[in-house]
Amino acid sequence: MPGVLSEGRGNAKYILGTLNDEMIMIDAATHVFAVMGNPVRHSLSPVMFNRAFSETGYNGVYVAFQVSAIGDGVAAMRSLGIKGASITIPHKISILDFLDEVDSMAESIGAVNTVINHEGRLKGYNSDCLGAVKAIEEVTPLEGKQVAIIGSGGAAAAIGFGVKSRGASLALINRSISKGEKLATALKADFIPLSELQSLPFDMLIQTTSVGMTPHIHQSPVPTELLTPGLLVMDIVYAPMKTRLLKDAEEAGCRTINGLSMFVHQAAFQFELWTQSPSPLAIMKQSLMDSLNNPSKNHT
Ligand code: ATR
Repeated sequence: MPGVLSEGRGNAKYILGTLNDEMIMIDAATHVFAVMGNPVRHSLSPVMFNRAFSETGYNGVYVAFQVSAIGDGVAAMRSLGIKGASITIPHKISILDFLDEVDSMAESIGAVNTVINHEGRLKGYNSDCLGAVKAIEEVTPLEGKQVAIIGSGGAAAAIGFGVKSRGASLALINRSISKGEKLATALKADFIPLSELQSLPFDMLIQTTSVGMTPHIHQSPVPTELLTPGLLVMDIVYAPMKTRLLKDAEEAGCRTINGLSMFVHQAAFQFELWTQSPSPLAIMKQSLMDSLNNPSKNHT
């Protein structure tokens, strides 16, 4: 019951409320984690991580902070002892200037989406890259595959780096030529302007733009006729879970990977980094699906 103080001797806990029938308890030793971005009100991370903490008995709480200047967010982590943070749009690149240390993979990608506070020393990682590779390799090995990525933003950079590091060849497809060519050069990948796309002679296509995301659920960046059986199609958009591209791909006989898979795997990496214990992956995935299927219940 929300608001009840349990009076166990020496470790009074305030029962903050219930989440999916699990109690959330806060005491003086509770570790605080946050997603920092702008906007963040749509984020599903608080529901997923609080469920994971509750499930594993970890004494942590996860909140969302809308942060306009990430330097201030980092300063707050230091002064308040916030133990870890997920970093999201638009701070994944600018945060690099404020950290004490950056993991070599995140440094090569040029973006950080995960921070851990080791007794005042802040280190950044990129779990998008690790999460994407895990989501793909659950379905197929990457080594020797020909992969194409649509988009050339931060998500494409992280996934492209991961794909190449696993021994796949890479082509980038992007709307703007300058941005696409720049990332293709950095990743040693081929480049195809989106407007000139005439066929998809690849093993796998990964969609990293926001096209198809709610509320524009009828949009897809790929003409249906280019989708052929044998192509594995992954979309990193997870709202809706089945995007127009994934529906078209299924109808064309392609195998598909939805955006939930990468999202939950990148979060699992964060959970393990922060808590040093295995993540409750199935519970995390289920809490995301519950949130997406029941938006009014979990989005306040
Ligand atoms: P993120 O860091 O989340 O990947 P981003 O850096 O803003 O986001 O990059 C978004 C990518 O999606 C870009 O490659 C963008 O293409 P442009 O370089 O042409 O801007 C692509 N994108 C966004 N909206 C798009 C649209 N409607 N059609 C095609 N590509 C789009």
